[in-house]
Amino acid sequence: MNETVIAFNSFTFKYRSQKEPTLIDINLDIRAGEKIVIVGPSGSGKSTLAHCINGLVPFAYRGESSGTCQIKGQETKELDIFQISQKVGTVLQDLDGQFIGLSVGEDIAFVLENDVVAQDEMKERVAQVAKMVNIEEYLTDSIHQLSGGQKQRVSLGGVLVNDVAVLLFDEPLANLDPATGKHAIELIDQLHRQTNKTIVIIEHRLEDVLYRDVDRIIVMEEGRIVTEGAPGDILASPILSQTHLREPLYLKALEYAQIPLTPAMHPENIERLQLTNKNMEQLRNWYHQVERKTTETQEEAVLKVENLSFHYSNQPNTLNDVSFTLHKGEMVSIVGKNGAGKSTLAKVICGFERHQKG
Ligand SMILES: Nc1ncnc2c1ncn2[C@@H]1O[C@H](COP(=O)(O)OP(=O)(O)OP(=O)(O)O)[C@@H](O)[C@H]1O
Ligand SMILES: [Mg+2]
Repeated sequence: MNETVIAFNSFTFKYRSQKEPTLIDINLDIRAGEKIVIVGPSGSGKSTLAHCINGLVPFAYRGESSGTCQIKGQETKELDIFQISQKVGTVLQDLDGQFIGLSVGEDIAFVLENDVVAQDEMKERVAQVAKMVNIEEYLTDSIHQLSGGQKQRVSLGGVLVNDVAVLLFDEPLANLDPATGKHAIELIDQLHRQTNKTIVIIEHRLEDVLYRDVDRIIVMEEGRIVTEGAPGDILASPILSQTHLREPLYLKALEYAQIPLTPAMHPENIERLQLTNKNMEQLRNWYHQVERKTTETQEEAVLKVENLSFHYSNQPNTLNDVSFTLHKGEMVSIVGKNGAGKSTLAKVICGFERHQKG
């Protein structure tokens, strides 16, 4: 068995400003080269657990702890945050707060600059890492003009350049559209296979994370680890719905069709999922039974957008000749890939930005 990289033993942590502990009696061993996912409702303590691994607890967030939290056999509180950052690389959800350089290349090079690495070697290592995360064509570009998915690649490059043992992702998919999210999961998986680093992913979008295999799923609730296990076992059990977590939609469909799940059916992966002919028939029957609602409202129009165009200063149009009507009582969702203009449209409707046309 591989060595243990992260070890929590009866670990409890209370933020200084809180009355009750946020993490309670955590026992968890993560081994070198493992790829695990941590899920749990909002406020269950996932990010706090991540902060314990990357040293933000106790170095940035103060509090009281008992039990032990070790990285490669060393108590985190006996290390300093710099030493921990040499072992654990974190990619945060709020990417914009994580950038230091002006250009992609500068940002990736930051750690090397600090270590006074010679220019030639620095350029070579930045180029290597940029290639690994597929951002090599943007090295001289300004970070702030990149899309969400591209920013994530830069952020990942910035931690990879340090050759850390553990990569920690706190909600890597939060701001990514489904297609970009898939790329992100693919990229993490590719890195895992190439470098065999230990990977910890915290994510609400379990179905999207499971697009590529993981070794283990850890479920948290109210500061405790309530269960952990192989993805097939976790998904075949009722634990996700019991903890009010969203299970993959295809499993929800099987549940509605009253098809019992077992780990042997490979519920963790829709492509490997095994259904008998009888299951398939049950599923078809259920599918054809479900009534589909079609709402054709003839209610009054409450919002009319006609030929609306908008551009930010000195930029090409972000909104281009947009027209639609919303009726009273309608519930509508606006979807589109990262950068499509959804938030801009909302800002214009609210009057925070003024449109130039329409
Ligand atoms: N810096 C802090 N100081 C004090 N209390 C905090 C701090 N950060 C988090 N908490 C508290 O700890 C609890 C767990 O929060 P945490 O951010 O770890 O949850 P989470 O599982 O990551 O939630 P989410 O899914 O919403 O990101 C919450 O009750 C929160 O209010
Ligand atoms: Mg969190």
